[in-house]
Amino acid sequence: MKAAIAVANSKGGVGKTTTAVHLADALSRKSKVLLIDIDVQANASSIFLESEIPLERTVYAALKEKRPLAQLVHGTRNANLDIVPATIHLAEIDSLISGAIDGFFRLSESMTMQPLPHDFVIIDCPPNLGMITVNAFVASTHVIVPLQTAKFSLDGLAALSSTLKAVQTRYNTKLKTLGGVLTMYNPRTAITHAMMEPIQEYISIFETKISRLVAVEEAFLMKQTVFEYEPSNRVAQEYLALTEEVLRGIEKG
Ligand SMILES: Nc1ncnc2c1ncn2[C@@H]1O[C@H](COP(=O)(O)OP(=O)(O)O)[C@@H](O)[C@H]1O
Ligand SMILES: [Mg+2]
Repeated sequence: MKAAIAVANSKGGVGKTTTAVHLADALSRKSKVLLIDIDVQANASSIFLESEIPLERTVYAALKEKRPLAQLVHGTRNANLDIVPATIHLAEIDSLISGAIDGFFRLSESMTMQPLPHDFVIIDCPPNLGMITVNAFVASTHVIVPLQTAKFSLDGLAALSSTLKAVQTRYNTKLKTLGGVLTMYNPRTAITHAMMEPIQEYISIFETKISRLVAVEEAFLMKQTVFEYEPSNRVAQEYLALTEEVLRGIEKG
C-alpha cells in the first residue's frame, strides 16, 4: 500500500464525502483503490452500492468484532475501486469501544490482519472527532481536510489540529497532514480572502480549489460521481488536478 488517506473535518457539509469519493475514483484510473466509509450517514456507500448491506459485511464488523477488513470489501461498477461500506449501526460504536484497551486501534488492526491488494485507501470520516475518526487517524498515513470557507470555524480547525497532534505523538508517528482543500469555493466572496491567512496558521492549503457547482449535487442525487455525470464539468477537472497535487504531496514524503 502506498498511502491511506483520511478525509476529515469535525464539521458536516464541508465536502468530505464528495472529496473522498472523487479522490478515490480519480486514483482508481491508475491504481487499485479501497474507499472505507466510516460515517453513520453512509453517503459514500450509497453512491457505489445499491441494496441493503448486511451488518456483518460493513465496517461495523471490523470495529466491533475485529473482523479483517479484507473480508468486508465490496466491488463496485468501477473495477479498480472497492468499498467497505458504513451502516447506521456505527452510531453505537463510540460507546462500545471507548473503554476498550485497543479502542483506538480497531480499524488499523483490521486493515493489517489480512493483506489488502490496494495501492491506496481513502477513508471518509464522520463530522466529529470521536473514537471512529481517531481510529481513521491511527490507521492512516495522511490526512486531507476539506474546508468550506462559508462555514469555516477557526475553533474547529484548532480542535482538529490538536487531535491530529495527539495522535501523531502517541499512536501514529507516521501520520502527515497533506493539506486543506477549499471546497464549494467562490472566489468573489470577500470573506474567502480574509480567511486565508488565519487558516494557513494551522494548515497549508492545496493550490487546487473546488468550485461550487450545482452539478455536484445533481450527480450525488443520481448516485453518480461527477466523472460519470458530467466528465467535462469544471469540478471534475478540479478533482483530477487535486488528485495530482495529492500524489505529489505523498511522493515528497
Ligand atoms: N463543489 C461543490 N459544489 C456544490 N455542491 C457541493 C460541492 N461539494 C459538495 N457539495 C454538496 O454539499 C453537500 C455536502 O457535501 P458532502 O461532501 O456530503 O459534505 P460532508 O461529507 O462534509 O458532510 C452535499 O449535498 C454535496 O452534494
Ligand atoms: Mg460525509
